[in-house]
Amino acid sequence: MNFAVEAKNLIKNFGELRAVDGISFGIKRGETFAILGENGAGKSTTMRMIACRSPLSAGELSVAGLNVSIEDRKVRSLIGVVPQENNLDPDLNVRENLLVYSRYFRIPKETAQARCAELLDFIRLNEKAEAKVEQLSGGMKRRLMIARALLHRPKILLLDEPTTGLDPNVRQEIWEKLEELRRTENLTIVLSTHYMDEAEKLAQRLLVMAQGKIVVEGVPRKIIENRVKKFALEIREADPIELQNVNGIISQRRGQTHIYFAENLERLAPLMSLYGSRQMILRPANLEDVFLQLSDAGAVESE
Ligand SMILES: Nc1ncnc2c1ncn2[C@@H]1O[C@H](COP(=O)(O)OP(=O)(O)O)[C@@H](O)[C@H]1O
Ligand SMILES: [Mg+2]
Repeated sequence: MNFAVEAKNLIKNFGELRAVDGISFGIKRGETFAILGENGAGKSTTMRMIACRSPLSAGELSVAGLNVSIEDRKVRSLIGVVPQENNLDPDLNVRENLLVYSRYFRIPKETAQARCAELLDFIRLNEKAEAKVEQLSGGMKRRLMIARALLHRPKILLLDEPTTGLDPNVRQEIWEKLEELRRTENLTIVLSTHYMDEAEKLAQRLLVMAQGKIVVEGVPRKIIENRVKKFALEIREADPIELQNVNGIISQRRGQTHIYFAENLERLAPLMSLYGSRQMILRPANLEDVFLQLSDAGAVESE
């Protein structure tokens, strides 16, 4: 298979610290792929190696079949990068931020102007084209970072925590833009996040990192169904009732909350009557459940 990004035994050391510890994965063309993990897991370091911004300590890494250690110039022309921290130029307005960047890619002036207009339209910042960066909201800055990364029409878009610290409605807006890009431009999107819902919503496939290693990978729905069961019954303020152990049902205590997982809803119904009038939520199992289960088993260190 010809992957958009392929890593084999990828390693990154910072002195004594091994930030990325022998990971292997393949990202398919045209998919959205998420790298999940808590702070310090090694997500940004992995993204920076893919973006040719940090040399590998060992292993192999290719982007569109090109070795990143040798053909870094070519790789850079194929990828658009949105780093974890915004690095827009505060002295320039919105449009100028895009135009200046287009020079790095030697995009001819007229093409650049047309492309900027198109992108400002896409991120709905037309009316802010003359505004200074400091006048933008957090979500607008992030959208401008995304537009800037798209200037040279990359084939692969790398986003390091695209929505961290943003309001729910702003996150939603960014998710819609990313989904639109994947659908209409056939872009390969690689994003890192510590939000389970973001990964579950956007990614066709994902991997979860902890301490530089991959702890789980695959299709979100499949991971959920393999690791937990299809449905979850969540009961708030469940104590002092005893946690029930029923065959075929996984039971879990999270603080004051009791959670039961089962393959079908019918199996969970009898438990509901047991808890009477307590607040309950019956829902599909999600990635957060998987993650919490992993931490329970000690595979992932939680904060
Ligand atoms: N430039 C660096 N020098 C030294 N240590 C670093 C550097 N960059 C990252 N690290 C360390 O590598 C580990 C992984 O960091 P990072 O990739 O930023 O994690 P994440 O993005 O998942 O939060 C952390 O322990 C971090 O402190
Ligand atoms: Mg990071």
